[in-house]
Amino acid sequence: MKWDFDTRCIHGEAHAWADGARSVSFPIYQTATFGHSMIGHEQFNYTRQDNPTRQQLEEVVASLEEADSAIAFSSGMAAIAALTEILRPGDHLVCGEDLYGGTTRLFSQICEKNGVTVSFVDTTDPAKLEEAMRPSTRLVHVETPSNPMMTVTDIRACADIAHAHGALLSVDNTFLSPVFQRPLTLGADAVLHSGSKYLSGHNDTIAGFLVLNDRDLTERFRLIAKTIGAALAPFDSWLVLRGLKTLHVRMQRQQENARFLAHALQRHPAVREVLYIGLPEMPGYAVNRRQTSGTGAMISFRVRDEATARRALERVRLITFAESLGGTESLLTYPLTQTHCEVPEALRRKLRIDGTLLRLSVGLENAEDLLADLTQALEA
Ligand SMILES: Cc1ncc(COP(=O)(O)O)c(C=O)c1O
Repeated sequence: MKWDFDTRCIHGEAHAWADGARSVSFPIYQTATFGHSMIGHEQFNYTRQDNPTRQQLEEVVASLEEADSAIAFSSGMAAIAALTEILRPGDHLVCGEDLYGGTTRLFSQICEKNGVTVSFVDTTDPAKLEEAMRPSTRLVHVETPSNPMMTVTDIRACADIAHAHGALLSVDNTFLSPVFQRPLTLGADAVLHSGSKYLSGHNDTIAGFLVLNDRDLTERFRLIAKTIGAALAPFDSWLVLRGLKTLHVRMQRQQENARFLAHALQRHPAVREVLYIGLPEMPGYAVNRRQTSGTGAMISFRVRDEATARRALERVRLITFAESLGGTESLLTYPLTQTHCEVPEALRRKLRIDGTLLRLSVGLENAEDLLADLTQALEA
């Protein structure tokens, strides 16, 4: 019998002792290389390509995403960069227009330099995606909900369009994690994660994952991963394994906090707009409800003017003014000068990523304490 998700966060698919000492916490195999007793009987070789701690982590992540395999990288960006290694000069990549700024930079600067043509498209509208597809399109990449505008893309509709044109669909599942959304079960071919966020969950490590459901694709990407050498180190693999044990509990509680704060922010006189996918007035609410089991803990909101936004960033005391998201500590981010500072200005303007926009990653602190901090930070 397959264990429930909560159990698999802790044990993966099978509770096997990793070593003769019967360690309850999976050991950190802090070694560069592994000895062999005979030629051709190597279980592990060299940590850039395989390591037991990383393998255990990959098995747990694959299980949570209902996938065949997961490959752990040294960062989310390393995982996304590895994904783009299947593209050749002349290929076409279609991606959502609202993406994490680092992903936009990778696609527009590195992929284009390598001869790949990139189209940024509003993937919330399947008709626009269909229109953007070309005979040379090999990959469609989306974030849902997107960073930072919290738009929602219909994964199944995108998968159908991508497949009809012979392309793959990859979905960045960083914001909701497999607790709430499993894109492979909706037709996606690959799932990406910044493991630095909810999966590890404690703002203490950088990691990334490429999760797959196809044996051939897995072989291709394992070759890419071991060749480019951006593998997750044993200690960081262990930190993510430890974080995953509480993933289901953290995400439920962070979501509760976020729901409370989203409604409170809507009532605040300095707040003009709250972008949280749990609010029924959000355009993506119905699609998100259909394809997920939750709304997560990321809130973007627009305040009355730029001065109010800048003041709030400097005034928060319990919440930290910082990049990143998904950890136990709440973080307030200014997309304009931080995560999205390198997004081309025309695109930023179109998306309305301006000086009044703040992004809040709601952590595990007491919700009333968080509200009190936001309230004092937003005072005139
Ligand atoms: C949605 C999303 N994807 C990918 C990344 C990149 O991950 P990393 O910072 O682990 O390289 C981030 C980072 O903020 C992100 O928010």
